[in-house]
Amino acid sequence: MIRINENYLNLQASYLFSTIAKRVSEFQGCHPDTEILRLGIGDATRALPKACIEAFHAAIDEMAADATFRGYGPEQGYAFLRESIAENDFQTCGVDIAADEIFISDGAKCDTGNFQEILSTDISVAIPDPVYPVYVDTNVMAGRTGDFEGGRYRNIVYLECTEDNGFIPDLPKKPVDLIYLCFPNNPTGATITHDQLAPWVDFARENRALILFDAAYEAFIRDDSLPHSIYEIPGAREVAVEFRSFSKTAGFTGTRCAFTVVPKECMAFDSHGNRQSLHALWNRRHSTKFNGVSYPVQRAAAAIYTDAGKQQVREIIAGYMKNADRIRREMDDLGFSCVGGVNSPYIWINVKQDSWKFFDTLLTQTGVVCTPGGGFGVCGDQYVRLSAFNSFENVEKAMKQIKNIR
Ligand code: MLT
Repeated sequence: MIRINENYLNLQASYLFSTIAKRVSEFQGCHPDTEILRLGIGDATRALPKACIEAFHAAIDEMAADATFRGYGPEQGYAFLRESIAENDFQTCGVDIAADEIFISDGAKCDTGNFQEILSTDISVAIPDPVYPVYVDTNVMAGRTGDFEGGRYRNIVYLECTEDNGFIPDLPKKPVDLIYLCFPNNPTGATITHDQLAPWVDFARENRALILFDAAYEAFIRDDSLPHSIYEIPGAREVAVEFRSFSKTAGFTGTRCAFTVVPKECMAFDSHGNRQSLHALWNRRHSTKFNGVSYPVQRAAAAIYTDAGKQQVREIIAGYMKNADRIRREMDDLGFSCVGGVNSPYIWINVKQDSWKFFDTLLTQTGVVCTPGGGFGVCGDQYVRLSAFNSFENVEKAMKQIKNIR
């Protein structure tokens, strides 16, 4: 008899963004004349940078001739892209990361979700609340979390992010094995300083733990004093894996390209206490289960690092951050307590009522889509997240509408 992985029965009914998309589409079906203004999921709306498009076209032309055609590429990614990333995102910023420590993939969602697979199923896991749901759900699938009771999984150590701690969680009170951190944060938009991040690296080193650091939004940091990478913190190479993405910065949400950094010093332990290289294990997993991002997409991604590409990406980010400023200002003026939108494309708003109720009110009265904070965890119950990923015109319209419901 074929049987299922029963851990899946422990998952909440559907993935957050699928639930929201379903509700919005049902509403739209019943109200075809209402204009829907999407400030929910963080999905890019601006076109790919011109430099990427040119590189994409040129790579397609290479694929069109036998002499330049490419079949399977290296699973870890082509050297031209890994080298550009290592140099531009790390080495020129004084961060010691080599090209062969970078694994190109089709998305940070997949990588943050998959990385736990090379770790034991009986480790303890600390996850922020609120949090990007992929970290929780993939640990549920792996059977690490225990039963769901009162909105939480019994075996997860929740790292609460609240107004009281400025949305930076306190260190766990007891040792844990795996820690998820995300800065600039999704969903809160909060950022972390070097001094706030360093104790996490020290904690991981003291407890032989691993930090999975999601830096998918680092390109939105405008405050030069903030760290862009966890590897700016001494000792992090031994205890941290970092995830980055081209999705939001260069419009690759549909095109798919991201990367994960696994330093060679980064170790985990077997049941005898022997050190095992996570770089070697991830390489083994990646080359077994993944066949690489397509050549044209990697060429398009590499174009981000040309002078023209860098300038075009800066313009895209500036556009989204203009939206973020606008949303943050409006929400502040309306008297909401908010965080984010300054070094991040997300604004986290205390709506002082059930977040799903607010979501429904906003959608039905105005056509504006937000993300209910309760979908990110118990600590998000009274919050909603607005995303800056839309046109300025639509953001303006949404802000006018939001005024009307107050
Ligand atoms: C979000 O809105 O949180 C993100 O777009 C989801 C994702 O990147 O998968």
